[in-house]
Amino acid sequence: MARAAISVVMLCLFAATVIAEDPYVYYTWNVSYGTISPFGAPKQAILINDQFPGPEINCSSNNNIVVNVFNNLDEPLLFTWHGIQHRKNSWQEGTPGTMCPILPGTNFTYKFQVKDQIGTYFYYPSLGLHRTAGGIGGLRIFSRLLIPVPYPDPEAEHWFLIGDYYAKSHTALKQILDNGGSLGMPNGVLINGENVKHLHGDNKPQFTMKPGKTYKLRICNVGSKDSLNFRIQGHPMTLVETEGSHTVQNAYESLDVHVGQCFTVLITANQEPREYAVIASTRFTPYILEGKAIISYEGAKKHASLFLPLAPITWFWSLNQFRTFRWNLTASAARPNPQGSYHYGQINITRTIKIVNSVARDDSGKLRYAINGVSHVDPETPLKLAQYYGVADKVFQYNLISDSPDEYINKITVAPNVLNATFRDFVEIVFENPTVSVQSYNLDGYSFFLVGMEEGRWSPDKRESYNLLDAVSRHTVQVFPNSWSAILLTFDNAGMWNLRSENAENRYLGQQMYVSVLSPEKSLRDEYNLPLTQQVCGIVKDMPVPAPVYH
Ligand SMILES: *[C@@H]1O[C@H](CO)[C@@H](O)[C@H](O)[C@H]1NC(C)=O
Ligand SMILES: *[C@@H]1O[C@H](CO)[C@@H](O)[C@H](O)[C@H]1NC(C)=O
Ligand SMILES: *[C@@H]1O[C@H](CO)[C@@H](O)[C@H](O)[C@H]1NC(C)=O
Ligand SMILES: *[C@@H]1O[C@H](CO)[C@@H](O)[C@H](O)[C@H]1NC(C)=O
Ligand SMILES: *[C@@H]1O[C@H](CO)[C@@H](O)[C@H](O)[C@H]1NC(C)=O
Ligand SMILES: *[C@@H]1O[C@H](CO)[C@@H](O)[C@H](O)[C@H]1NC(C)=O
Repeated sequence: MARAAISVVMLCLFAATVIAEDPYVYYTWNVSYGTISPFGAPKQAILINDQFPGPEINCSSNNNIVVNVFNNLDEPLLFTWHGIQHRKNSWQEGTPGTMCPILPGTNFTYKFQVKDQIGTYFYYPSLGLHRTAGGIGGLRIFSRLLIPVPYPDPEAEHWFLIGDYYAKSHTALKQILDNGGSLGMPNGVLINGENVKHLHGDNKPQFTMKPGKTYKLRICNVGSKDSLNFRIQGHPMTLVETEGSHTVQNAYESLDVHVGQCFTVLITANQEPREYAVIASTRFTPYILEGKAIISYEGAKKHASLFLPLAPITWFWSLNQFRTFRWNLTASAARPNPQGSYHYGQINITRTIKIVNSVARDDSGKLRYAINGVSHVDPETPLKLAQYYGVADKVFQYNLISDSPDEYINKITVAPNVLNATFRDFVEIVFENPTVSVQSYNLDGYSFFLVGMEEGRWSPDKRESYNLLDAVSRHTVQVFPNSWSAILLTFDNAGMWNLRSENAENRYLGQQMYVSVLSPEKSLRDEYNLPLTQQVCGIVKDMPVPAPVYH
């Protein structure tokens, strides 16, 4: 009886997966140069369909996203989808380790599914220093209908893409780094590509609110270097989601948003109807750069008060704020890691990888950044393609770095940095930052549990301080100066995945690596074969396409 019932259920599930193909959303992007002048002086920017920031990608969990990108720049281009997991499909990840660049004057169509994800994300151009020039936009994933969301529908929702701004063009910045220099401080902070100079000037509000209504804001730090504090005059924010997880709904006067991080908050229009300032200001910098924008109430004429809320000081404040972020365990939502990592605190750790960042000058005197002593460079042949074609040994060497480097590393080796990981291993990654600047990392292909963060060096006894119950599952992690952060995750997504510094200078000069996770059974259940539409380049360009590797 029971068994019959189960097989009926299984049949239905099977039928559902076969019949109901998930909906598609289509975009066509024309990527070109344009000019922006948020602080008066013109700068060459990267526009998408003439927009800066670029158009949003809007979808629901499990939708298939198709983006046909026309590269009208005079240089190669790739887009990466920050926080999107691309399950079984690192082919679409859009980093130089997984894909050949889209050449000038050509187009390429990305196809990926936002499987089991919800929340606030963004995309950006991943090559060189393109991200400092634009090509960035929001990507929001709604819950599917019928899946309850743990807060009432807002009246409307709005983006706040915030980030530091360099007045120099991306090519000028690249030249500085190629010549061995450092970028130094940015020149300002932008909010949605703009900056309000005079709060009492003739400013166009980002949006207007109806008294009494609640609004949802999607905030991402899309910048190149600095952590930003985000705050709104007179309007505390209720945090509801961060990087794909519904959080415990605490109220905050301001939020520290490290580079690459996203938060979704609610604000309620319950103040005097007038204009209010929105502020994003740099943290942990020798002097503070501030970006401002305006929001308003419908029909309100009165300008914002000039008494602006102050930013917090010290990074301890930031660390303490991090400790208040908790996962809402009772909220239902798509869960990215279905098999058991919900109870992540009860799984035995099979491998501990320590990641130590360092900075040094190479033999020619040029600045390089490294992870465990290896400063990554992208070979002409994407790592993933070399692996698939069976010629990895001609392009890179696995495991140049050790899992447990002991001391601050002064010597730096410049080479492709690829770590081999075992499929389905439950690992602990400890980030140690012996430098005086805040680090921010993003891991593609996964979300992980950010379980601990403290000042000092990490040691195994620090595990006693881990949050093993309701740590937020996310995809970026900040590491404070002379501090460590620890994450737990299951390597259950086969592919070639980029772990990188969110700081443009560090990333460009080598503070990134790839983690290779292969399906031991070479099963299509675990990873897709090379898509027929994939571009090939480098040493595999003229080789015959291998017979499908996965079955
Ligand atoms: C794309 O943008 C470029 C530069 O602005 C323009 O010359 C071209 O006509 C545009 N192409 C399309 C298909 O809109
Ligand atoms: C965004 O996507 C959601 C869910 O797929 C849909 O309900 C909504 O109408 C879309 N909004 C826009 C502006 O396309
Ligand atoms: C380029 O765009 C055209 C449509 O304008 C499309 O048919 C073609 O498939 C695209 N090429 C690639 C490689 O995506
Ligand atoms: C968590 O989500 C549940 C279910 O949607 C909701 O009722 C509850 O208020 C949320 N808890 C907190 C502390 O935010
Ligand atoms: C975890 O390790 C402990 C000690 O080695 C062992 O007793 C326990 O059975 C393991 N748990 C699981 C779920 O494998
Ligand atoms: C990578 O790890 C897997 C699983 O542990 C192993 O089977 C494989 O031989 C390793 N490959 C290399 C190149 O080290």
